[in-house]
Amino acid sequence: MKKPRARNLLSAFCLLASLFTVACVNSPIIGIIGEAVMLPCPCMLPMNLDQLYLYWQIQGTVVDTFINGEASRSHQDIMYQNRTKLFVRENNTCSLLLSQLSVKDEKTYECLHGSPHITKNDVSLLVAVNYTPPVLQVPSEQPRGRYTCTATGGFPEATIHWLLDNQPLPWNPEPQQSVLDESTGRYNVTSTLAANISQDSTLTCIVENKRLNVNLSQTLNSPSIQDTPQNHIVIPVVVVSCCGVIVVVCLGITMMRRYLRTSRRTIQHNNTVV
Ligand SMILES: *[C@@H]1O[C@H](CO)[C@@H](O)[C@H](O)[C@H]1NC(C)=O
Ligand SMILES: *[C@@H]1O[C@H](CO)[C@@H](O)[C@H](O)[C@H]1NC(C)=O
Ligand SMILES: *[C@@H]1O[C@H](CO)[C@@H](O)[C@H](O)[C@H]1NC(C)=O
Ligand SMILES: *[C@@H]1O[C@H](CO)[C@@H](O)[C@H](O)[C@H]1NC(C)=O
Ligand SMILES: *[C@@H]1O[C@H](CO)[C@@H](O)[C@H](O)[C@H]1NC(C)=O
Repeated sequence: MKKPRARNLLSAFCLLASLFTVACVNSPIIGIIGEAVMLPCPCMLPMNLDQLYLYWQIQGTVVDTFINGEASRSHQDIMYQNRTKLFVRENNTCSLLLSQLSVKDEKTYECLHGSPHITKNDVSLLVAVNYTPPVLQVPSEQPRGRYTCTATGGFPEATIHWLLDNQPLPWNPEPQQSVLDESTGRYNVTSTLAANISQDSTLTCIVENKRLNVNLSQTLNSPSIQDTPQNHIVIPVVVVSCCGVIVVVCLGITMMRRYLRTSRRTIQHNNTVV
């Protein structure tokens, strides 16, 4: 009598565990403000799409629906009007394309789908947007005074770092100022540093957008790379891919040589035999 019960318990546990992992594995989707993002929701479609029930919602607020074989917008919340697209007929998914993203779209979306059994997939959306390249202002009484680094129009709030000759600073900057623009939902960030920077030193400010994994920087007093805002991801990628290409080419040449040598030897060997 005990065994089936234990098995039932075990299968119930496994079911719970699998539901739980599904809920855990869904990592957030990152959308760019002003652009469109695909909220994924893979689903098994019935042969007859008239039987499909698809409901995208946020805690009772209707984002988009597909019922009775067509997209139905009669109960759609005004916030999502003209901004959604479903691809049920085009590419057999329950995914939702949400366009013209704004900070207000940062929510967890529920995709309810099925026929007749309803499955729920949660998709959490985070939004982000790059800052403008930072502007480094020098004090009028240079080299000593207040240096400021400003970047605008980004999301989420960025962190500003300073480097002197590519090393951490010997001085502490003033607390960073972050201003949220209520109308756009984007941030302007400013950091101020009171310092004495000699002509032969290089001062760099870095604006880090952690969510996008992007650093934008501005450098002062650098003789070679004056005032070039640069994306710090690009250079390592280029260097690594160049190295990769060189390695592959060298390997290719070596193998080709070895192959030619052995085949020549084989031919010579064959000749002596013949
Ligand atoms: C959606 O588009 C229709 C037709 O172009 C327009 O009348 C309506 O105002 C739009 N709704 C929103 C919320 O932009
Ligand atoms: C569905 O098709 C559209 C083009 O019709 C494409 O842009 C989109 O990426 C596709 N979506 C998925 C989830 O495959
Ligand atoms: C942020 O910076 C932009 C560009 O300089 C400016 O137009 C805007 O007014 C600033 N917003 C706030 C809230 O300070
Ligand atoms: C700035 O530092 C230099 C040495 O690095 C020093 O000679 C100079 O007097 C300092 N200037 C001021 C105004 O403190
Ligand atoms: C951005 O800069 C910060 C501070 O120098 C560093 O910790 C971080 O790893 C950098 N991130 C990228 C993507 O380069």
